[in-house]
Amino acid sequence: MNNRKMRAFMSTLLLATALSAGAVAATGITAPAHAAATARPWMDTSLSADARADLLLREMTVEEKKILVFGYFGSPMKDKNYVPPAGIRMGSAGYVPGIDRLGIPAQWQTDAGVGVATQRDSTDPMRERTSLPAGIATVASWNPALARQGGAMIGKEARLSGFNVMLAGGINLVREPRNGRNFEYGTEDPLLAGIMVGAQISGIQSNNIVSTIKHYALNAQETGRFVLSANIDEAGVRMSDLLAFEIAMERSNPGSVMCAYNRYNGDYACESDFLLNKVLKGDWAYPYYVMSDWGAVHSTVKAANAGLDQESGFVFDKEPYFGPELLGKALADGSVGIARLDDMNRRILRALFAHGVMDNPVTVEDHKIDYAAHAKVTQADAEEGIVLLKNQGGLLPLAVGAKKIAVIGGYADKGVMAGGGSSTVFGPGGNPVPGLGPKNFPGPIVFHANPPLAAIKARAGGEVAFDAGTDPAVAAKLAADSDIAIVFVNQWTGEAMDFALSLPDNQDALVAAVAKANKRTIVVVQSGGPVLMPWLKDVGAVLEAWYPGTAGGEAIARVLFGEVDASGRLPVTFPASLDQLPRPKLDGEGLPDGTKFDVAYPEGAAVGYKWFDKNGHKPLFPFGYGLSYTNFAYQDLKAEVGADGTLTLSGSVTNKGARAGKAVPQLYVGPAGGGWEAPKRLAGWQKLELAPGASGRFSVPVDARLLASFDVARKEWVVKPGRYKVWLGASATDLPVSTEVVLKGGSFSAVKGK
Ligand code: BGC
Repeated sequence: MNNRKMRAFMSTLLLATALSAGAVAATGITAPAHAAATARPWMDTSLSADARADLLLREMTVEEKKILVFGYFGSPMKDKNYVPPAGIRMGSAGYVPGIDRLGIPAQWQTDAGVGVATQRDSTDPMRERTSLPAGIATVASWNPALARQGGAMIGKEARLSGFNVMLAGGINLVREPRNGRNFEYGTEDPLLAGIMVGAQISGIQSNNIVSTIKHYALNAQETGRFVLSANIDEAGVRMSDLLAFEIAMERSNPGSVMCAYNRYNGDYACESDFLLNKVLKGDWAYPYYVMSDWGAVHSTVKAANAGLDQESGFVFDKEPYFGPELLGKALADGSVGIARLDDMNRRILRALFAHGVMDNPVTVEDHKIDYAAHAKVTQADAEEGIVLLKNQGGLLPLAVGAKKIAVIGGYADKGVMAGGGSSTVFGPGGNPVPGLGPKNFPGPIVFHANPPLAAIKARAGGEVAFDAGTDPAVAAKLAADSDIAIVFVNQWTGEAMDFALSLPDNQDALVAAVAKANKRTIVVVQSGGPVLMPWLKDVGAVLEAWYPGTAGGEAIARVLFGEVDASGRLPVTFPASLDQLPRPKLDGEGLPDGTKFDVAYPEGAAVGYKWFDKNGHKPLFPFGYGLSYTNFAYQDLKAEVGADGTLTLSGSVTNKGARAGKAVPQLYVGPAGGGWEAPKRLAGWQKLELAPGASGRFSVPVDARLLASFDVARKEWVVKPGRYKVWLGASATDLPVSTEVVLKGGSFSAVKGK
């Protein structure tokens, strides 16, 4: 990292500190703050987060210092005879007790990226909260402002539900399309990931709570997640997964980083000196704390000395490694120094001060949640994340007054699907389709009670008939008797499992039968990532709706009827077949539980479209792809190098159709003579709303790291001098405009401040 970037990073940190201090000052508490400051000098909001953390740390006894580094699971667990301590928020992910004597609040932790989740073992009723669409859907909007707004909304629900730490900010790159958690992450591209997830984290933290970016790092598949070692060379990971974290963190300053379950090059991620001490806290100068994933700690001494600051979710680990006894023993025999314990506490306190947690205590005030307003936020997000994949002959948008519409399958009469696992939010009205999927975690399958059928009926103007789709022949008969058939197909995915790319439960046969009966068949897919579509050529239109959140039914209907443009673009490549992937066979499948194994990542930084490009594979749908109800032309591409060496790409896009629409012009760059991990990388994009006939200009400065390769020995980003090609267009494989630019080349340090 060069000095300029370092300064930008530091000013972000300073700004965050200043803002949290300002936020309190703005509430007009000068007198009480002063009074508090006398008794508790660390509550003086005019001091920096650093100074405040130091003042408080000085007051803490060693016993108190052990309290902040050890967290409990927030729900009872019958099979482990675990009863959480008093003070938890029942059904939550976690709890770290506070210290009343010093005014340190408890850390109440809630999952996750789509909203306030409730753990299934809860003995209390589920919290019913607003759910955003899946992370992958938000990323598919390519609209950082929406991601931020969504983050601000769920962060507000977290705060009003009594949580001050939100375990949100899933940013693992989609290296494995079968990964059951892709729906929580979002993309295969580090720039898109960094900008979109960074925006969400900023939104969450705007509520004076901490957001936790996760899972650091390379938790790319769920099969064998507790034991596998993700093996990838340093340059490859610095230019891909780590770059995604780095970009998101520079933009959002998250108060915590969650280390992952898996191992990285042999070491557990929560015991990885390389990941935690060297890269995160060293090179990136990360000032806050590392919390473990729930059950990701395997030692006291190795983990503490590698840089883990807080063990989460006791009772998931085999032992309470950071509990008072084991940590006390390590401190007593000197294998963990007291300075390390101080550092852990300082980092936690610094985050609590810098992010306003200390100055703005949370309380449970859930009656204040404005669900109607929040439904609009999640709906807007879902609408922009839905991707129109096929639209033959302008079948969509649907005309109001179509004579008879058949709606088939997917429980479209009941609701929309949610992804499974710790992140599942129970929406208003609870789960309208109980009893499906695995009985235990990550099941059961949860739906949100916002049925597309009702939303379609409200708009159709003509007859709308529903068939559950359980018998393809019956569904085909209804389709044959209708003007239009809309088939809903679902692929549920969830944490702790990976999934085949084929739709389950004979749904491919259902679509094939309906399409045969009616050419005007539209398929709405709800899935957590790419799926195969053997029926693609036989259907008229396809919408990828992901898991669209608690207003998902409305959002789907609005896109179907063209009340809004279809403006989502794929954040992941949809492969045509498994043999196109770097690992056609999923590693670890069929191994007895607990057997350690390695996953090699020969693609290095060539993730997703880069791999497809490099190998000349033709995907089912490329990265960046998505149709609109209008069409766009791209022009005026320019690549200019400014006096400070920054490459800026600019161009314009024109709406050539008769409807207003949203364009997502994408810019890619690559060395003319090759030499990178792949022919090109995404360098930037913009989302623009354009009236018919209107043009819009855009201009994007390119992050220098996207023009560089990582030199491990020199710990530098190196830009090779020479000619570079720049492309502009609608997806990774539709780039009608290109130009060239000559770069002088150079290098800059990967260490912040150097
Ligand atoms: C997941 C985390 C989650 C934690 C707490 C783990 O199983 O991997 O993402 O935040 O549980 O529920």
